[in-house]
Amino acid sequence: MLMRTHPPAEWAVAVADAFEAIVDRNPDIRLILPTGATPAPVYAELTRRGVSLAGATVFLLDEFGGLAPGHPQRCHSMIAPFLEATKVERSRYVRLDPDGADLKAACRRVQDALDSQPVDLTMLGLGMNGHLGLNEPGSEADSTTRRVDLTPETVDGAARYGGTGAPSFGLTIGLSTVLASRRVWLLVTGSHKRPILSTTLHGPISAGVPASLLRRHANTTVWCDSDASSPS
Ligand code: PGA
Repeated sequence: MLMRTHPPAEWAVAVADAFEAIVDRNPDIRLILPTGATPAPVYAELTRRGVSLAGATVFLLDEFGGLAPGHPQRCHSMIAPFLEATKVERSRYVRLDPDGADLKAACRRVQDALDSQPVDLTMLGLGMNGHLGLNEPGSEADSTTRRVDLTPETVDGAARYGGTGAPSFGLTIGLSTVLASRRVWLLVTGSHKRPILSTTLHGPISAGVPASLLRRHANTTVWCDSDASSPS
């Protein structure tokens, strides 16, 4: 894995620079995008610059179920302003719908769309328990888009995104698709992520820490700030 470390104040600009360069070279890019606190300053920077994703296809990495549409903890709610600002076409935005009766069919639709052409870039945050998207510990490298049970810490952690109530399950793009992506960027910021980043980089490669499986991917870049990377 390639490591790119920047001071916290410069981190989002560095990631945005690289992202913008890739989109400039390939306006029809196929992207899997995450939500949460980590990518938020990158999305803010890209929005500030007026970057256009009008030609891109965007897959939302994951979604929480058991929350009303529009709830602030829903991943779609978090990413919608960024998609709007960057002019992502509605017809080229693919998300996991947790509200219907047939979740299997909803997941299959997304997997079919993913499988129709390679994904150019998957961006990921790093969970405190090593999850990628909602691929919680125990998720295997060959996992596909599916409904998942959430760990208690993921359920509790969703509260940081606002609103009352908590998700009761998750939907996530699977690790097989992440690992088949041409490029993967793992975004990691803050001293609270230091232990799990260290485990990801230096611990055993195992489904127990899904992020460690990225070490088997030939083109993964870890974009971390110096708070997350420096020794404790
Ligand atoms: P965060 O979430 O970016 O809000 O820290 C990352 C994750 O749990 O996947």
